[in-house]
Amino acid sequence: MARIIDGKKISAAVRAEIAERAEKLKEESGVTPGLAVILVGDDPASKVYVRNKGRACAETGLYSVTVELPAETTEEALLAKIRELCEDEKIHGILVQLPLPPHIREQAVLDAIPPEKDVDAFHPENVGHVMIGDYRLLPCTPAGVMKMLEIENIPVAGKECVVIGRSNIVGKPMAMLLLHANGTVTVCHSRTKNLAEVTRRADILVSAVGKAGFVTADMVKEGAVVIDVGMNRNAEGKLCGDVDFGPVSEKAEAITPVPGGVGVMTITMLLENTVRAAEAFVRAGRT
Ligand code: GUN
Repeated sequence: MARIIDGKKISAAVRAEIAERAEKLKEESGVTPGLAVILVGDDPASKVYVRNKGRACAETGLYSVTVELPAETTEEALLAKIRELCEDEKIHGILVQLPLPPHIREQAVLDAIPPEKDVDAFHPENVGHVMIGDYRLLPCTPAGVMKMLEIENIPVAGKECVVIGRSNIVGKPMAMLLLHANGTVTVCHSRTKNLAEVTRRADILVSAVGKAGFVTADMVKEGAVVIDVGMNRNAEGKLCGDVDFGPVSEKAEAITPVPGGVGVMTITMLLENTVRAAEAFVRAGRT
């Protein structure tokens, strides 16, 4: 039976450190790290994520504002709101919750967030820094996975790492972070042939597909580390990941559960990015 990688426990430890950093910054400079989260429309899942982000900020001693805009908000109005937050000295991080309504161009919005306040690390400049390995702000989910591996003492160097999924949010940056940690990285996607053959090579298997039960035990090598980034609802409406948890945990050496795994770490790394952005703001003498 696999060791369960407890995202909640790891998060609690990391959040305690983040809270200390935030407190130190406040004492030394009078600056409280501040996050603005913008939600356009009323997608129920997005609403829950946004609420959780605000709550996590409050629990860590960070300032946060949530800006809720109606679904029919124009792209121009959203860009104007972002410009307003760019000028706001209390705000060091700006996050626009995705997905956006279809009439708004996602890339135009992501490009409008200044790289130093881009706590999602979705701006092309931050994406470039990730690619080069000259890290500034790191994308939250992949950074959370790396943090989990580090705290669990799971080495990446020289390991076969297989990432399923090639999204800009998870798959691609995940592959880069594993590569910079000296893993041998393979990225699989919907057009990959003989997927199970590839995933069975993995010492570290990361699934970011978005389909309940996608990763079955036959796709996993005995003794692998399995990281489940999926956030799905099963037929009974229960939150679950991509991995068929029961059978896979019989084969894996270590595994992340859903809920209680990567999801909590994503928010934790968002808090870390917000503190990092605020520290850089103070260092740049902007107070
Ligand atoms: N929607 C799903 N995941 C994310 C994320 O990491 N950041 C933002 N902004 N939106 C998301």
